[in-house]
Amino acid sequence: MKNQDGLSRRARWAGGETIASVLMARTLAQPELISLAAGFVDSETLPIESTQKAFDAIWSDPARAKAALQYGTTIGYPLLREAVLQRTVQADGTTAEQLNVSPEQVVITAGSNQLLFLVSDTLLDPGDVVICGAPSYFVYMGTLGNLGVRAVGVEIDQHGMIPEAVDESLTRFEAAGELGRVKAIYATTYYDNPSGVSIPAERRAALVELAKRWSRNGKIYLVEDAAYRELRYYGDDIPSLWSFDPTGEVVIHAGTFSKSFSPGIRVGWGILPQTLVEPVLAQKGNLDFGSPNINQLLMATVLEQGFFDVHVQRLRESYRKKLDAMFSAADEFLAGIDGVDWVRPTGGLYVWLRLPDGIDTGFSGALFDRAVDEGVLYVPGEYCYPPNVPKLTKNMLRLSFGVQSCDSIRRGVELLGRAIREVL
Ligand SMILES: Cc1ncc(COP(=O)(O)O)c(C=O)c1O
Repeated sequence: MKNQDGLSRRARWAGGETIASVLMARTLAQPELISLAAGFVDSETLPIESTQKAFDAIWSDPARAKAALQYGTTIGYPLLREAVLQRTVQADGTTAEQLNVSPEQVVITAGSNQLLFLVSDTLLDPGDVVICGAPSYFVYMGTLGNLGVRAVGVEIDQHGMIPEAVDESLTRFEAAGELGRVKAIYATTYYDNPSGVSIPAERRAALVELAKRWSRNGKIYLVEDAAYRELRYYGDDIPSLWSFDPTGEVVIHAGTFSKSFSPGIRVGWGILPQTLVEPVLAQKGNLDFGSPNINQLLMATVLEQGFFDVHVQRLRESYRKKLDAMFSAADEFLAGIDGVDWVRPTGGLYVWLRLPDGIDTGFSGALFDRAVDEGVLYVPGEYCYPPNVPKLTKNMLRLSFGVQSCDSIRRGVELLGRAIREVL
């Protein structure tokens, strides 16, 4: 086909309109819609006051103020890198010494999406393979498509990625003589987007063992996306996938303050195997030679002054109520419908709903327009799957409980229940 616009392959692979922009357009066109689609954090709990106090602390210290307004380094602000590492090892119940890791392996990025992109751009050539859950975080599926990479989905259950399914997938690639093309396994380990599920400790250990065992034709990394770790409303924290690899060679750990503090500040990070630090920094050097310094100093100050932990506690309380509101509404309005089913998450922002077989939740299916007519918006599940899943499940959808009030969540679920009954 003639390339009329003179676009690069990468630009063409980037694809057209994103699912987010389609849904956004619907919301703008009908502002009275209750959107249970947007994966945004709640505007009502954004940390205005603590951000202001942290800025005050920066402006009242001339050295910090100057640093904040100056370019920084490619790898990121040292105090923030130290704090991120310290907090991670502490949450994992270990120490930097035990894991033989240093702040020199922590790279600060403009959100964890940038880290995921940089790492992918560093490791993957067109035609390479990343194994991921089916479903998976759709923005990252887009990133992989943009790089010409094959995202290959494996089955998940209520405990997330199934190690046996990964093993089978790798066996198939080996049989096809393509094991060398598999470069990474990607998983959101806490309160997955969209499935809401977390991977338990035993599976984390099994995934690390798998990645090591299958790295015989070339290294297979595990990319751990821990974007929602702090948003835990019930149960105990689980040590990160990263902490299950004492060699520090296999897991790339991606984290972010977007969900736990503010996506507007957009500070994320990666903790990388030693050997990847330089190559990733070379990519970042060419891209922006360092993320905005003012945001990094701001987050370092927010952590240092204790504002972060207080904020996360507040968030947990507020989102816990919303999660409860969603489930009491689901019990009331959805549970009575034959074939409707869900796994109750204990954190994060999402609920992954299964509808009766035969209901197509997509834009061209009967439910979507009916739901919009009733006044509620959701994310059709099919957009959350990697491309070319052998049997695409059409009857799934994602609901978010982050943005709406408890009352609107209840009303939204009621309207959804009504729409489902109408199409049945
Ligand atoms: C699973 C997952 N990973 C990463 C991100 C990226 O967040 P950010 O780039 O703001 O850190 C998101 C945002 O929605 C997400 O859902």
